[in-house]
Amino acid sequence: MSASKSVEQNILPNDLFVGKTIFVTGGGSGINLGIARTFASLGASIGICGRSQERLDTAATGLRELGAKVSATSADVRVPEHLQAAMNASRDTIGDIDVLVCGAAGNFLVQGENLSFNGFKTVIDIDLVGSFNASRIAFEQLKRTRGSIIFITAPMAHLPHAYQAHVGPAKAGVEMLMKNLALEWGPYGIRSNSIIPGFIEDTEGMRRISSEANTGNFIQNIPLRRMGMTHEIGQAAAFLCSPLAAYITGTSLWIDGGQALSGSGFFNSNSAAFLASSTRT
Ligand code: HXC
Ligand code: NAP
Repeated sequence: MSASKSVEQNILPNDLFVGKTIFVTGGGSGINLGIARTFASLGASIGICGRSQERLDTAATGLRELGAKVSATSADVRVPEHLQAAMNASRDTIGDIDVLVCGAAGNFLVQGENLSFNGFKTVIDIDLVGSFNASRIAFEQLKRTRGSIIFITAPMAHLPHAYQAHVGPAKAGVEMLMKNLALEWGPYGIRSNSIIPGFIEDTEGMRRISSEANTGNFIQNIPLRRMGMTHEIGQAAAFLCSPLAAYITGTSLWIDGGQALSGSGFFNSNSAAFLASSTRT
């Protein structure tokens, strides 16, 4: 079976994360929900947060169908008190966090000269400050479990991409936060790594940077000639949080079908056409 036809299935042992708790910021949709679903199918209990309680409730139903115990409490990662309350609720119902996934993020395409001061700050606040808030608040729980953190970043953290003057610095900051925490929290047994997804199909992130009509153009520029799938990010996260990765910390794992090898030139020309054709959402 080719990788592109592979179904959402476990290759790792089904009980790998039994007795473990995963907390995912932005876990109500997309890649982050894909990660939560992978851990649920490997036996973990799942905590999720996001701003929309309705979205979290829908996600929680699906996670429970996979057999997971779930805590789903709305919280904006920019507001430490909200996040603290969500993590307290999770701790009280499903136990201390073994794995924290910092996945909440915001994105839109905009020319640097049109990016408002608040637009820049908003993305820095959600992606970078939100990742620090989550890590800082989860620390006491992670210290008790000798757990690990996965930060979800993006190619923009390492390569400049047009119309991403807010996302690039935000995600680059998250990459450095990951390394700082790996350094400081390693002595507590806490590991800290990041995942850099490439273009992942059927996600809000893709819908914000391209139209479906352009999907073929994207695929032509990816060496593996397909987009990634959310469960493939989930499987990589499961690996990084498993005993297989017990000595891995401070590392960034690209999961992009080799897309970064060709740089951001294609993204830049595609984005110019998409931005010119789209109305602001
Ligand atoms: C220009 C925009 C804009 C747009 C918002 N702003 N959308 N500027 N173009 N399309 C500006 C607003 O005018 C405002 O500035 C400031 O940003 C804050 O906007 P709000 O709507 O008040 O912010 P908020 O309600 O907090 O929402 C945050 C958001 C929103 C990021 C703007 O889009 C959101 O909630 N996104 C979450 C979902 C998401 O983005 N998912 C994709 C993640 S993918 P002013 O100056 O007017 O006050 C990703 C990487 C993908 O992160 C990588 C792909 C390879
Ligand atoms: P998504 O479904 O929009 O995921 C973002 C999630 O974050 C949503 O569930 C959203 O829920 C939540 N969120 C946003 N702002 C928040 C806030 N202030 N507080 C709490 N939660 C917040 O998009 P996605 O494409 O799957 O992206 C998921 C992650 O992958 C992001 O970190 C993104 O940068 C990264 N990524 C995506 C791609 C891709 O191809 N899609 C590529 C590279 C990296 P609410 O709106 O309910 O809050």
